[in-house]
Amino acid sequence: MDNLVDNSVWWSNCASEEQMADAKNGQLELTLGISKPVPKDWISDICGRKVLCLAGAGGLQAPLLANAGAKVTVIDISQKMLDKDIRMAEKYNLDIKIEHGNMTDLSRFENETFDYVINPASLFYVPSVHPVFKECYRVLKHSGSLIIAAPSPIAYVCDFVDDENGGYYKAVNRMPYSSAEHPDQGDWIEFGHTMADYIGGQIACGFVITGYVEDQQEDITDLPFMTKATKL
Ligand SMILES: C[S@@+](CC[C@H](N)C(=O)[O-])C[C@H]1O[C@@H](n2cnc3c(N)ncnc32)[C@H](O)[C@@H]1O
Repeated sequence: MDNLVDNSVWWSNCASEEQMADAKNGQLELTLGISKPVPKDWISDICGRKVLCLAGAGGLQAPLLANAGAKVTVIDISQKMLDKDIRMAEKYNLDIKIEHGNMTDLSRFENETFDYVINPASLFYVPSVHPVFKECYRVLKHSGSLIIAAPSPIAYVCDFVDDENGGYYKAVNRMPYSSAEHPDQGDWIEFGHTMADYIGGQIACGFVITGYVEDQQEDITDLPFMTKATKL
């Protein structure tokens, strides 16, 4: 993961000065690694709230949320991504708690600590989403919410087949998907989870799904979505 940060992948960009100023002035626009921002009414009461940015380092979400008045903790497996939050916190004089760790193990946090857990697109790095959702439910207060962004299964089901007419997508992979079973699929293992895992998995933990949006891109297999799930 640190290698990718060294190579400045697009998702390791820090918040701009303009984004930080907007957040401070009550115009927070939060993106979670997909192009559509989190709907404003999902996080309209963020000032003073305790927020966990889960696998959410990189100097984007945590500094924006902190500048909007939230009390932010960020946990991430990449120290280089966390270093970006440290630098942003120094630059903007923000009190962001930095935790180096795995999103599958939130045992360092007490039950019912956070009002929000905000998870930029990253669940495809873990083989199972269920332990993550279970832990998110535990560390959230009642009425607290988990907001995730994730890719749709169609991104993994289909492979592109090139032909003389410009090519087409063919549904070839059964879900759940693991890139480890497909040679030449990149430097890290990526897991394609089903919607039963993403939606059913949150409901099975006790969450109520209170928001759902999709973000269709020009490539029809690129259909990330976001959910808001609330602990009643
Ligand atoms: C695509 S980036 C998302 C963060 C970024 N701020 C954004 O706007 O998209 C994925 C993040 O997940 C982190 N990550 C991957 N696997 C993880 C794990 N098992 N536990 C914690 N963090 C993890 C990576 O280090 C990286 O910071």
